Amino acid sequence: MIIRRALGKFVRWCTKPPVVEYGALGENSIVHTPNILDETSKNIFIGNNTTILPNSRIQLFPDRGNRNARITIGNGCFITYNVTFLGGDDITIEDNVLIASNVLITSENHSIDPESNIPYMDQPLITAPVVIGEGSWLGEKAIILPGVTLGKKCVIGAGSVVTKNVPDYCIVAGNPAKIIKKYNFNNHQWERV
Ligand SMILES: CC(C)(COP(=O)(O)OP(=O)(O)OC[C@H]1O[C@@H](n2cnc3c(N)ncnc32)[C@H](O)[C@@H]1OP(=O)(O)O)[C@@H](O)C(=O)NCCC(=O)NCCS
Repeated sequence: MIIRRALGKFVRWCTKPPVVEYGALGENSIVHTPNILDETSKNIFIGNNTTILPNSRIQLFPDRGNRNARITIGNGCFITYNVTFLGGDDITIEDNVLIASNVLITSENHSIDPESNIPYMDQPLITAPVVIGEGSWLGEKAIILPGVTLGKKCVIGAGSVVTKNVPDYCIVAGNPAKIIKKYNFNNHQWERV
């Protein structure tokens, strides 16, 4: 009996998920499980009233990227299913951002020296911070690549691959993403570019 109990305790200890401690998880914010997080979650800072739906992978790579990198998600964001944030450098998501399912935001690339004996997966990371501007909406399956800053209230079309900065109040679409519309505050319309 005692042995069975001790064995049970040991198995539970071996199989228990790692304790996830965020740098901050604000009031009324929730990160649904299952998700992939690890000990780097201490550099993830989430504001108030933000929701992240299941199957997210949110990770930093301090050993191989910018050691002090943070992932910061603001207040009032709604981040849906299966999103991936790979933080070799800072990723900053400002307030009230909507992110649809299957979106990738990455602030890292692998070095790709084909003459090295080191496989690409182990070569050093090349990193550059990413910023998603306040109130923006990222459509389904959008991809945001390292070094990109999206301005305020941008819209990223479904399936777009964003390789360059996007100014405030623009809609971009395609691969590579191009500006298709810009908001005109004089006539209060989105206008084709
Ligand atoms: C980007 C988006 C908002 C633009 O909508 P819109 O302003 O009504 O755009 P339009 O339909 O007027 O299209 C303008 C042009 O952009 C093209 N376009 C629109 N969305 C595109 C996209 N995602 N990828 C590539 N091209 C796109 C259109 O084909 C059209 O091209 P054309 O001028 O050659 O005819 C919308 O198309 C989109 O992708 N929404 C995301 C939907 C989504 O992910 N929903 C999940 C809910 S959270």
